[in-house]
Amino acid sequence: MKLELIDSKAAEVQGAVLVLPAFEVKPGSNDLYSGGLDEVDRVSGGLVCELYRTGEFKAKPMEVLLLHRVYGLRTPRLMLVGCGDREKLNPSTLGKVAAAAVRALKQKSLMDATLYLDPLLANEANVAEIAGGALTGDFEVHSLKTQDKDDKIFALFRVAMDGGAALLQGALQKGQILGEAQNYSRNLSNLPGNLLPPRELVERAKVLARETAVQVDVLYRSRLEELGMGALLAVAQGSEEPPFLLHMVYDPDAPTSSVHLGLVGKAVTFDSGGISIKPADGMEKMKYDMSGGAAVMGAMQAIAALRPSIRVSAFVPIVENMPSGKAMRPGDILKSLSGKTIEVLNTDAEGRLILADAITYAKQQGCTHLVDAATLTGAIAVALGFEHVGLFCNQPAFCAQIQEAAKAAGERFWPMPLDAEYKEYLKSDFADIANIGGRWGGACTAAKFLEEFAGDTPWAHLDIAGTAWLETAKPYMPKGPTGVAVKTFVELAVRLASAHSAATV
Ligand code: BES
Ligand code: MN
Ligand code: ZN
Repeated sequence: MKLELIDSKAAEVQGAVLVLPAFEVKPGSNDLYSGGLDEVDRVSGGLVCELYRTGEFKAKPMEVLLLHRVYGLRTPRLMLVGCGDREKLNPSTLGKVAAAAVRALKQKSLMDATLYLDPLLANEANVAEIAGGALTGDFEVHSLKTQDKDDKIFALFRVAMDGGAALLQGALQKGQILGEAQNYSRNLSNLPGNLLPPRELVERAKVLARETAVQVDVLYRSRLEELGMGALLAVAQGSEEPPFLLHMVYDPDAPTSSVHLGLVGKAVTFDSGGISIKPADGMEKMKYDMSGGAAVMGAMQAIAALRPSIRVSAFVPIVENMPSGKAMRPGDILKSLSGKTIEVLNTDAEGRLILADAITYAKQQGCTHLVDAATLTGAIAVALGFEHVGLFCNQPAFCAQIQEAAKAAGERFWPMPLDAEYKEYLKSDFADIANIGGRWGGACTAAKFLEEFAGDTPWAHLDIAGTAWLETAKPYMPKGPTGVAVKTFVELAVRLASAHSAATV
């Protein structure tokens, strides 16, 4: 998709469709809260006010109305997209509006549109979100259907404003980089276990490194054995597919920040549960159990393009969790890279095992701050549904920075507890720690397990099991992978870089 920013009045816009964000209007009021809508209302002889007056269009969030041959316009079509209450508007809503417009137009095989942005809304944050939203709205999972393929790409999405477009080119580019990174991550999450086994994910990482300013070091099985990553290796031992640990590095020329950020992402290319096998119903969904790793890889792609002056390393432990005659068993005791021993009480609690070794390795590599993302527990969806990422953090100041980054990125993170008591749930009779904590507080005990390996290093854990996959389509996103956490990771890196010193953390 081509993205462009142009100077134009609403009524002067050319092309197939003029898209206008529209706000709820109080009954009886003629205030449309938008210069673009005012203008279109004027040239069309009062069409917009009439639509509001008759109640045919209410501008509820993501409500879409497509009209033809509106008098006074130069485009054959006008699309109104509802934004809800003008007072509550934020950049993220405008991103969704762009995505919803693209999705609605594609269904009608309309592949070019121009969104006119009111002068009061023509700022960097809004333009970036709109550009990113247009791209994420255009995302199609690479269908392997041999018939009825529906993988057309939107041709051109333009953002028009009444002057000053040149000043916002950078914002458009930032939005484009983020949208592409999110889609990159979504595409990986969607690939099934047979098409994306661990070795294939490694190939993708090598391509990423070739095409960007990111270096990648692939640790193969022999190296993992040498280092003593007993937890990671144990998860992989039931599969025919060998395990890997990806270590990606983005090293800016002149870092202004003393922070070395480490992003860690769980990548189980397929999670059958292992010997503690999952029920058949829904098991196919476990192809997206590498979404944390995919989010980290997408973020590295964007970070390499945006070039913040901070060192960022990424660590992605990659395995397939399978049952077999060689698989790890309940009762097995593993020696992790940290030296801590782990009793495996459930082989389906595998994510925390591979993350334990990846986190330890990230610390050994000199990371000063760590954030991991993982589809770690079904329990996080019990606690938060599909709306919020669960945010666990061992340091309040770092937690606040992540929450701010998430807010700026338009992602919803909810703080979750890590009280000392949860540690007791993980007591093992035979090893330092057990890999499950029993029936209650499953997301918290999983996070607590990881904290044991993060130690005193400022660390946060994002449980994205409820948010990495959308079960029911929204106007701005189809059912499927969401690319959650990519934007927050990038925003966090950018913010830490401009915070100048670790003293602020
Ligand atoms: N990958 C799953 C978690 C998951 C569940 C992700 C649903 C996405 C949707 C993870 O490896 C797992 O199996 N967790 C277990 C932990 C349990 C054995 C303590 C779970 O949540 O049931
Ligand atoms: Mn599992
Ligand atoms: Zn898993």
